[in-house]
Amino acid sequence: MKPKDWKPAIYARHARYVSDLGLPVLELLDPRPGERILDLGCGDGELTRVLRDRGSEPVGTDPSAEFIAAARELGLDAREQDARELDFEDEFDAVFSNAVLHWIGEADLVIEKVYRALRTGGRFVAEFGGYGNCAAIEQALVAELELRGIEASTASPWYFPTTDEYHDKLAAAGFTVRYMELIPRPTPLPGGMLGFLETFADSFASLVAPDRREGYLSAVCDRLEPLHRKNDEWIADYVRLRFEAFKG
Ligand code: BEZ
Repeated sequence: MKPKDWKPAIYARHARYVSDLGLPVLELLDPRPGERILDLGCGDGELTRVLRDRGSEPVGTDPSAEFIAAARELGLDAREQDARELDFEDEFDAVFSNAVLHWIGEADLVIEKVYRALRTGGRFVAEFGGYGNCAAIEQALVAELELRGIEASTASPWYFPTTDEYHDKLAAAGFTVRYMELIPRPTPLPGGMLGFLETFADSFASLVAPDRREGYLSAVCDRLEPLHRKNDEWIADYVRLRFEAFKG
């Protein structure tokens, strides 16, 4: 699957909360001065910058040339690379990733590449969408496609596994899982539901003819409004899967 085409300005406007809410997983990582840390899917480098400010030596990777340019503007070592094509070997004390792994269906391949990138004893600490993440939103996107007679079964680009499923994948690659938790996290959307859909749901919307997309997204919002809008605030039904695993 082709990586999503991110636009840093739109991301900053509608999705800055995604990196802001990444601080708990960064605390789980507990970066130490001098550690070499790979930030897998670093986006525009907001969390990579925190890693550097805490004294570690981060390298960020992301498949988006625009994100990598934004991260380099922050003076970071950022490299344009798809997670499925990582070519590091035995060189990092830790691999860190926030809000990225749910965009990559080939989880086994990515876990294998991360394992190879770590030195023995190194840790893989990450958080991403887990089982049930944004389920109501996904159902509304699919339902409105089906209402328009559009085949929706392959529209979702997202991978939201259970803890058992992801634990088994990590273990099969050789990792020892020290901690793993599925965390329901209802999340206010600063750009509203439309901002969320415009930022994250283009693989659904692109199935609708361009002149009908606005109507489609508005119908998705109408479906979600009774349960996901309180006064003027839209809330998304986020569920995060957070874990720490070691290369044995
Ligand atoms: C996220 O990156 O946080 C996200 C993306 C798609 C669906 C839900 C969450």
